[in-house]
Amino acid sequence: MTSTGVSDSLLADGLVRIARDVDETFDQLLPLPQDPRARLIEAMRYACIGGGKRLRPLLLTATAEMFGVDRDAALRAGVAIEAIHVYSLIHDDLPCMDDDALRHGKPTVHRAFDEATAVLAGDALHAFAFELLADPETSGDPFTRIELVATLGQASGFQGMAGGQMMDMMAEESAFDLQTITRLQQLKTGALLGASVEMGAILGRIPPEGRTNLRGYARDIGLAFQIVDDLLDHEGDEEAAGKALRKDAVQGKQTFVSLLGPERARSQAQMLVDQAVAQLASHGVEADLLRALARYIVERNH
Ligand code: IPE
Ligand code: IPE
Ligand code: MG
Ligand code: MG
Ligand code: MG
Repeated sequence: MTSTGVSDSLLADGLVRIARDVDETFDQLLPLPQDPRARLIEAMRYACIGGGKRLRPLLLTATAEMFGVDRDAALRAGVAIEAIHVYSLIHDDLPCMDDDALRHGKPTVHRAFDEATAVLAGDALHAFAFELLADPETSGDPFTRIELVATLGQASGFQGMAGGQMMDMMAEESAFDLQTITRLQQLKTGALLGASVEMGAILGRIPPEGRTNLRGYARDIGLAFQIVDDLLDHEGDEEAAGKALRKDAVQGKQTFVSLLGPERARSQAQMLVDQAVAQLASHGVEADLLRALARYIVERNH
């Protein structure tokens, strides 16, 4: 087999395995109670189980594996970050934000349930993520747990995803320049992708000064990822995406595609992925899954 063939199967196997493991972990950790909260947990399970590429848990477990971290511990941290991601999507789809009816090829949570349930499911997933990280089962070392909690907290809140979502809402009325759009995307999407890699390194007990290359890798793939999300919105296939597309232009949103045009946006994404792979030059075959993941980010169709 060629080395491309090997990394293709590494990626394909990694994606299948993480999807199965994340589904199983959510299923175990979110049992349906026999009381009036059942509707809330049903909505959480509906959003969390059986959809999404699971890129963040895969980034986290792939990084953790490079440093010999126990898979169950990495998986719990991966599920924590996925819980934040899923909560961000539930809220992103609400009528007061993007007002979307379809996600992962099925009705969005507020359509399948109702708006109040969708807000609460997002709230509960947000809290659940930190509960998971603070649990000694994720790491026996309290310092590691605190670092995981602080990293995910920073990446989720005003210095990360929520801050980026605010800028994204403002982008409907403002004419942002490329620098501001880059900042918006780094917060909205890059922060959680970056935290995925960072948390893998934290579990591997790599000190901050040893994480520079990994941070560079994560920053580059984070930006490439969002450029591709914008490109898919512009020219992708709705059936493959499992969500409504051509929305950014309708909502008058400034994106990389609206600013650069699709061709330059695509070559920028490709350049960022090459740069991300180059950041891993000091690592050997143990970083092959991260390399394959970087390429997948620009080649994906959903
Ligand atoms: C979509 O993220 C939303 C953005 C952050 C741009 P993903 O494309 O990772 O979502 P799923 O979970 O795989 O559907
Ligand atoms: C959503 O970005 C990003 C977050 C939820 C943080 P988008 O609004 O572009 O995501 P899609 O296109 O609906 O998946
Ligand atoms: Mg949005
Ligand atoms: Mg959206
Ligand atoms: Mg989008």
